[in-house]
Amino acid sequence: MSQDALKKQAAEAALDYVEGGVIGVGTGSTVNHFIDALAGIKGRIEGAVSSSEASTERLKRHGIPVLDLNAAGELSIYVDGADESNAQLQLIKGGGGALTREKIVAAASKTFVCIADESKLVQVLGKFPLPVEVIPMARSYVARELVQLGGTPIWRENFITDNGNLILDVHNLEIVEPMTLEQQINNIAGVVTVGIFALRPADVLILGSAAGPRSLK
Ligand code: 5RP
Repeated sequence: MSQDALKKQAAEAALDYVEGGVIGVGTGSTVNHFIDALAGIKGRIEGAVSSSEASTERLKRHGIPVLDLNAAGELSIYVDGADESNAQLQLIKGGGGALTREKIVAAASKTFVCIADESKLVQVLGKFPLPVEVIPMARSYVARELVQLGGTPIWRENFITDNGNLILDVHNLEIVEPMTLEQQINNIAGVVTVGIFALRPADVLILGSAAGPRSLK
């Protein structure tokens, strides 16, 4: 099966977690499959809170109401993809650059259902370059601080986040203590969000595989 078919399989399996009300929806190619599948049961939900302009547009194209998080209160579930997950369901996210809104919606949700193809499950996080969203004037300063932490930050050129900020992709990190590193990077002045989701990990990870979807909790 292709990687895309495995993403679709995981995305469709996540429909079992949709019970109604307002749900949180992430960003990326796996989530695009989820949004397409959600369209088939859209009568069951009141609407969605979206983590990016791209997902908002796709949801609206399917006629799924998009709500402001401030008007929605706590969300029952949040469904989103990941760039990497370890066995503790601590994640690297932000390959699509939507990490800040993703972290907010994940924080505001009772259950975080992560969907991915099985290649995303790793022993140690960090092979995928770690995205960090930064305020533009702090780019070089934050990059120097990230070098102090052992990483090699590369500016994602020609990319502006939905919040008007920049992304540094940090290579060569072996993230053995995800919660500690998440806090350390978040504490650097000028960092908006780091793409480690360890303080609030996923609650369920659905992996698409040749043998069918499997869930880790
Ligand atoms: C976007 C993300 C995505 O969830 C992550 O990049 C995975 O993307 P895909 O589903 O396309 O593999 O964090 O910011």
